Amino acid sequence: MTAATRLQPSDSSTAVGNLPVVAVNGVSHSFSHKKSLVQVLNDFSFEVYPKEFVALIGPSGSGKSTLLRIVSGLIKPDKGEVYIEGRRVDGPSPKVSMVFQTFALLPWFSALENVEMALLKSGLTKEERCAKAEHMLEQVGLKGFERAYPKELSGGMRQRVGLARALVSDPQVLLMDEPFSSLDALTAEYLRNEVMMMLQGSEIRVKSILMVTHNVEEAVEMADRVVVCSHRPSHKVADIVVDFPKPRNKRDPVFIEYVDQIYTLLT
Ligand SMILES: Nc1ncnc2c1ncn2[C@@H]1O[C@H](COP(=O)(O)OP(=O)(O)O)[C@@H](O)[C@H]1O
Ligand SMILES: [Mg+2]
Repeated sequence: MTAATRLQPSDSSTAVGNLPVVAVNGVSHSFSHKKSLVQVLNDFSFEVYPKEFVALIGPSGSGKSTLLRIVSGLIKPDKGEVYIEGRRVDGPSPKVSMVFQTFALLPWFSALENVEMALLKSGLTKEERCAKAEHMLEQVGLKGFERAYPKELSGGMRQRVGLARALVSDPQVLLMDEPFSSLDALTAEYLRNEVMMMLQGSEIRVKSILMVTHNVEEAVEMADRVVVCSHRPSHKVADIVVDFPKPRNKRDPVFIEYVDQIYTLLT
């Protein structure tokens, strides 16, 4: 197969025999701004299938974070609906966890407490919650930093806490909103590789991942499929299967072809 034939938009062939884990159906949303309505999303639809890592890429202000919040149940869309494993989303669900660009840790809580917090509604005892949180901190490479406060941790370490907090509740769907964009380039690259390895490992049972990014190389490096969004009001411009084995070499001509194709769609 040549690179050109790989660069096909996805079709139902990705979905044969599979029900989507996430289905976004015709979602439109507006915000009021200075007494007028600004439409952010316009009839946006896409699916994420089991075992898929989908990247959502688009210009700044195109409504990517809004769409992620709608998927997580934090915002109710004006029109359309979201289904997680066939059930309509009508509020936050324990099946879905989010990793934020700005980490969103509570500064007066230790790393362990920040992670344990995600289990408050789990029905587990305090000891069980702590044991799970400790284990998850170890998984993300933070053994020995359980008692550290966010201000004592580097950006990369804070995002590891953010990941541990998202994963400790065993979610079906992991949402990530530009999780590497607050980090310096080297830390981001290192953490991307670790996250990819961790998500492929047997300990983490996340079914599907949806990551917002504005970094084309990051999308091509990590995702099985890239959904490209337009400017506001945003709709889906393209849905591209990245048919190329991982780990992906950024200097490989196929990698560069994918990056070029997505840049062209974005500009
Ligand atoms: N809660 C809100 N109230 C009003 N406007 C908002 C709100 N959230 C986002 N917006 C506006 O919606 C647009 C899309 O925002 P966002 O979803 O954050 O875009 P992106 O993540 O693609 O950069 C922006 O113009 C932003 O100012
Ligand atoms: Mg955003």
